[in-house]
Amino acid sequence: MSEQATVNPQTMDNIVSLCKRRGFVFGSSDIYGGLASAWDYGPLGVELKNRIQRFWWREMTQLHDDIVGLDAAIMMHPRVWEASGHVESFADLMVEDTVTNERFRWDHLPQENRAKKVSPAGNPLSEPKEFNLMFKTHLGPVQESSSVVYLRPETAQGIYVNYKNVVQTSRVRIPFGIAQVGKAFRNEIVTKNFIFRTCEFEQMEMQFFVHPSEDEKWFEYWKQQRIESYRRMGINMDRIRFQQHGPDELAHYAKDAFDIQFLFPFGWQELEGIHNRTDFDLRRHSEYSGKDLSYLEDTTGERYLPYIIETSAGLTRSVLMVLSDAWEEETIAEGDVRTVLRFHPELAPITVGVFPLVKKDGLAELARNIERELRQDFATFYDQGGAIGRRYRRQDEIGTPFCVTIDYETKENNTVTLRLRDSMEQVRIPIAELSARIRQSIKEYQRVGA
Ligand code: GAP
Repeated sequence: MSEQATVNPQTMDNIVSLCKRRGFVFGSSDIYGGLASAWDYGPLGVELKNRIQRFWWREMTQLHDDIVGLDAAIMMHPRVWEASGHVESFADLMVEDTVTNERFRWDHLPQENRAKKVSPAGNPLSEPKEFNLMFKTHLGPVQESSSVVYLRPETAQGIYVNYKNVVQTSRVRIPFGIAQVGKAFRNEIVTKNFIFRTCEFEQMEMQFFVHPSEDEKWFEYWKQQRIESYRRMGINMDRIRFQQHGPDELAHYAKDAFDIQFLFPFGWQELEGIHNRTDFDLRRHSEYSGKDLSYLEDTTGERYLPYIIETSAGLTRSVLMVLSDAWEEETIAEGDVRTVLRFHPELAPITVGVFPLVKKDGLAELARNIERELRQDFATFYDQGGAIGRRYRRQDEIGTPFCVTIDYETKENNTVTLRLRDSMEQVRIPIAELSARIRQSIKEYQRVGA
C-alpha cells in the first residue's frame, strides 16, 4: 500500500472546506441554517457528478452491447415494496444513549459496546428497536391508507417491474442487462461523513438477467468488470478492495454479495455492492402482481425465471470517493505547498483553463478567441486576473488538467504555452495543434502521485 493510502480524518476536513470554498458542495438551505445531512451540488460539483455518471453510463451501455438503459419514476405502486420485501424487512436496529439521547445503528456499534449494551460515551443503551428506512408519503389530497406511496429506497425495483416491457420492445435476449441512474431515499438513523451517507442520494444500478445455471459465472464476471472500471477511472487501486458479506450480513434478497470498498479518509467503507439476487425479485413480483414474468428461450423452448446479478454503486458517494482519491497537498519547495485535485481528465469539471499573460496589447482578445474555439470540444474556463502562477494554482485546486497561456510570442508565431496540472510541465505548441494535443493527453492519461 502506498504511503498516502491511509486513514486521515484531517483530509476530510480539508475536502469539506475546499468543496464549500470552490463551489463543489454546499449545505442544503444554508441561509436558513441548513438541513442536517442534506447537500446541494454547486457549479463544479454538478459537473463532477455528471461526469462520473457519464463515465459509468458509457462503461455500462456504450461498451456493453447487451445492456440497455431505463429511467423509471421515483414513486411506484405501493405493492412493489411489499413484493420486494422492503415493507417487511428494510429496517435497521436503532438504539439510544439513555443519557444523551444520541441515536446509533446497532450494527455500526463496536462489538464491545453491543456486548455491554453501553454507548461510546459509556452510558446505558435502550433496547434495540426496528426502524424502517423507507420514506412514506401520500399521493393526492386525501391522506388515507390507500394513497400511501414510498420514495424508492433503491432504483432496482423500477428495472424489475419494467423487465417484461424491455424484453418485448427491445431486441435483448438473455443474458442482458438494464442500467439506470437516479435518486433514492432512505431515512437513515445516522447520517454522517459529509455526502457519504445521506437520506437523499443517487445510485447507478445495473441488473443483469441470466439463466439460473449461469449465475455464478456472471457474478464473477461482473465483480471483475466493476473493479477494473475503477482502474480505468484513474482511482488508486491501493484504496480499492473487495469485501464479501458473511451469512448474517446478506440482504433479504441475496444469495451472495461482495462490496467494493474504498479507503475513505475515515476508513474502509462500501462504495458499491455486487449482489446475486437469484430469482427472488421476479418471483415475488410475479406472485404479487399476478403477471407471468417468466422468460421464454426461443431457441430451446425452455421457460424460466431469470436470475439477476446486480451491480449497485452510489453516485453521490462516488463523488466523495473521487474527491478523496484526487485530493493531495504537494510540497513543491520549502514553504511552497500546492493543493491539487488529481482527477482523471475525463472527470475534471473544467478541462482547460485559458489565460492571457496580461490583459493589454490585444492578448485578452486573442485568448478569448482561442478559448471560444476550445469550448467547442472541451469544458473551458477563461481567467485574465492576477499573476499567472496564482491562476495555475487556482486551477490545480479544482483539478483542471490543462492550462493554456497566451503571451507576446503568441502574436509573433501563433504558439501558446500548454501547462500540465500533474507534472507542472510547460510546453510550447502551435495553436493549430492545441485541441489534438489535449485530446491525445486525455486518451493517454496515466495516474501520477499518490
Ligand atoms: N439495490 C441494491 C442496493 O441498494 P445497497 O448496498 O443498499 O444496495 C448500494 O446500496 C449503494 O448505494 C451503496 O454501495 C452506496 O454506494 C449507495 N448508498 C446506499 N445508501 C446510501 C446513503 N444513505 N447515502 C449515500 N449512498 C448510499
